[in-house]
Amino acid sequence: MTPVQILDRLSAAQAADVLALAAAAEQADGVYPLSEDVVLRVRGGGSPAAHKHFLTYADDGRLAGYAFSEGELVVHPGYRRRGHGTALLAAAGSGPLRFWAHGDEDGARAFAEKNGFERVRVLWQMRRSLTEPLPDIPLPAGVTLRGFRPGLDEDAWLGVNSRAFAHHPEQGRWTRDDLLAREAEPWFDPAGFLLAVDVADTLLGFHWTKVHPASGDDPALGEIYVLGVDPAGHRKGLGAALSVAGLRHLAGQGLTVANLYVDESNTAAAALYRRLGFAVYKTDINYQRP
Ligand SMILES: CC(C)(COP(=O)(O)OP(=O)(O)OC[C@H]1O[C@@H](n2cnc3c(N)ncnc32)[C@H](O)[C@@H]1OP(=O)(O)O)[C@@H](O)C(=O)NCCC(=O)NCCS
Repeated sequence: MTPVQILDRLSAAQAADVLALAAAAEQADGVYPLSEDVVLRVRGGGSPAAHKHFLTYADDGRLAGYAFSEGELVVHPGYRRRGHGTALLAAAGSGPLRFWAHGDEDGARAFAEKNGFERVRVLWQMRRSLTEPLPDIPLPAGVTLRGFRPGLDEDAWLGVNSRAFAHHPEQGRWTRDDLLAREAEPWFDPAGFLLAVDVADTLLGFHWTKVHPASGDDPALGEIYVLGVDPAGHRKGLGAALSVAGLRHLAGQGLTVANLYVDESNTAAAALYRRLGFAVYKTDINYQRP
């Protein structure tokens, strides 16, 4: 094992190696090990922050493990149980650290316990068939829906997003750069980014959908990518109406399955999604070391 490399940015070749390693882990584990945010940062996008990439190489010169500070850690299935994960953790220092384990697996749990990590967050992926009928939920009086307008709606969206997700750090901290990085992605479709506005065109809430092509055993998925309602307007039926409008949009694109990610502790959203017929499909665990 060679010393862990610690980098602010990855070269194109390093980024390709990290994504190939992640794909190999997905093949072996049945779950993709990196979040969308980390994939964007591997590819050089997102807001410039004080994050670091950690790379560990096997003696044969191949990339054996990858970690992202405050983020994720993955070891290639061909190089496990050889100390790469421990070396990545050691390189990240002894201070506070957290990582996501995608899938509630024994291997990740044992590794976390051995290294003094605790489970701090549980993220559910929920799914629902889009071929089952959706309930009719009208918009509150005076509210209409329209598509997101790139170049015009960013400030209003960032404001509502930060207020709606004030208690959900990863989503609530999004900056303009984080938003613009998504707008530049090939999957971005303003027609699937629904904004709920009042008669003065003030933004009250939004439902941003995302279409994922079929991959492995998964069919194409229509995701409730981000759903938020300005807290001043909670509990008036807007979240439910926005959800259904976005799901109808996805069904209209020919998608048959909808999915979403929600914190187990987010009781409001989990209750809303269960009411709309979603059920837990997969669980991701966030481990943290104090
Ligand atoms: C989740 C969220 C979008 C719901 O929006 P909303 O407009 O307040 O929700 P609605 O008024 O349409 O509520 C619909 C149903 O959801 C459930 N629900 C909503 N808020 C709830 C709460 N605080 N506690 C329990 N259930 C709740 C209820 O079943 C509710 O129906 P009811 O009012 O008839 O009981 C909103 O709370 C929000 O923006 N939260 C922060 C952002 C977020 O967590 N988004 C989802 C992450 S994936």
